[in-house]
Order: sequence, then structure tokens, then C-alpha cells
Amino acid sequence: MTPYVADPVYLNGQFLPLAAAGISPLDRGFLYGDGVYELVPVYSRKAFRLDEHLTRLQATLDGIKLANPLDLAGWQAVIEKLIAGAPWDDQSIYLQVTRGADNKRDHAFPPASVTPTAFAFAAPLVTTAPEVRAKGVAAITVSDQRWARCDLKVISLLANILARQQAVEAGCAEAILIRDGFMKEGAASNIFVVKNGVLLAPPKTQLMLPGITYDLVLELATCYGQPLKVAEISENELRSADEVWMTSSTKEILAITTLDGKPVGNGKPGPLGEQMFQWYQDFKNTVMRKG
Ligand code: PDD
Repeated sequence: MTPYVADPVYLNGQFLPLAAAGISPLDRGFLYGDGVYELVPVYSRKAFRLDEHLTRLQATLDGIKLANPLDLAGWQAVIEKLIAGAPWDDQSIYLQVTRGADNKRDHAFPPASVTPTAFAFAAPLVTTAPEVRAKGVAAITVSDQRWARCDLKVISLLANILARQQAVEAGCAEAILIRDGFMKEGAASNIFVVKNGVLLAPPKTQLMLPGITYDLVLELATCYGQPLKVAEISENELRSADEVWMTSSTKEILAITTLDGKPVGNGKPGPLGEQMFQWYQDFKNTVMRKG
């Protein structure tokens, strides 16, 4: 059996077996969810869009006023070593940094002597089965209960977790978050809409995570001359869409074909979504799998 998390993992400057990796119960990640994370897909042992992921990690660290424990070259070296040590060609690399462990519990930042906790591991890349992709998946809409800095990729994910669990209990793959009548994103994905041949994308604001896949979808649409409109998407526009897609580093581009129990468009994955999936695969194969 392949383990879910590969050995070794990285913790605070060391590579060690997962079973030997220990963190203080006073770690602020544990006490407060005071930390940040990234998830980087790896294809054929090459990290995909690594610079973009590490740039977003830095932006999130800046956003929560936490110094990066490693520089760019430091993270690259950690990631290369994790990839090399794992048994799979396609992987996902998880990175997490928390504000570390003080010797007491206090909401305010700990003294500078408390160093951040940096943790990273490799796991197999879990992809969507072709038969699921061919049919598309179901989603529900829920009210967005998150805080006002959803652009930061922080580990405090309780509102996302509750939304996602609601979806699971409804037999659905994703929960689409609605705030003030507008669609923001999914509990763990960005959402795109197609109407009359135009690809609609919500703008990057503080109420949406700037997805690495989202950026690539916009780049590919622009590169291939796909009509595109970046603007807030109302709940009504979502419900009357011809196509709805979810995007993320692990889901890539996945059609949502049922929304709140009703078919999206004709209830089948649409032509633009299939085209974008193909463009995405071509990009991956050109950039990643070559040489
Ligand atoms: N989630 N929006 C949210 C709220 C997310 O959690 C994610 C990704 C995305 C898509 O971002 P990207 O394209 O960079 O993966 C959008 C990751 C996969 C996770 O939480 O595990």
C-alpha cells in the first residue's frame, strides 16, 4: 500500500519520517489557526507554476504580518527534495507556515524570539476519474460565512469546511458561496460561468482566493481569443448559466452540471469547458511533461 503522506516530511529545517515529526500543542496553528498554506501540484516530478504559488505564499504571509521562514531558493530546495523522496511521478506538495509556539496562550503576536513553524509534505496527486469528468459534478449554493480577507490562503478554514460538509451531506462535490447576491467562489475552488459563448469570471477582490488555476484559465482564454468578461457574477447569472465550472490545482477544470438539484444548461459538460480542459492539458503537457 502506498502511504498517503510520503516520508520524509519537512519540519523546521529537517527532513524526517512523518511519525517522528512533532509540533508543540501550544503551536499557534493548533491554538488559533494562525498560519498559511499552499498546495502545489507536481506533474512528472516537476512542480507546476511554483513561482506563482510561492509568490501567493509570500502575499499571504505579508497579509498576516508573518516573516517567511525560507527564501525562494530555500522553498525550492525543500520542494525538490520532497518530490525526489516520494514514490509518485504526479504529486501534491503541501506547505504550511504558522506563527510558532510560545510558552503561553495570548492572542497578540508572540515575541520575536518565537520562530515560525514550517511544515511540508508530498502526497499523491488525487485526480478526477474520467467517468466523473465525463458527467460533471453536482454543487449546492450556500451563503458565504467567511471573513473579509478571503484573498489570503490561511489555514483557518472553518467556514469553508462547514460549507463543504453541507455539500457532502447533499451528495454534492462542491458548495458555491454567495455573498450579497453575488457568487464569489467555491468552498475549495474558483468558479467560472459561461453564457452565450462568453466566459465570465468574478474579479479578484478580497472576497475571493486568487487561484493559480484561475489565472491560467484567464491566460489561456486570452491566448486563444476566447471572449471573456471579468465582472461580478450575480446569483441569477449563475443560475441561468449555460455552463458552470470549478477550478483548482487538483480539480483542474471540472464541469458543474447540477446546481441545487437543477441541471446547468442541458445538464451535460459544455463545449467551452471541454475546450478549456484541453487547452489546460496541452499547456501542462508542453510545459511540464516535455524533456
Ligand atoms: N484549494 N478558492 C479556494 C477557497 C480554494 O481553497 C482553492 C484551492 C481555490 C483554487 O486555487 P488554486 O487554483 O490555486 O488551487 C480557490 C486548495 C486546492 C486546497 O484548499 O486544498
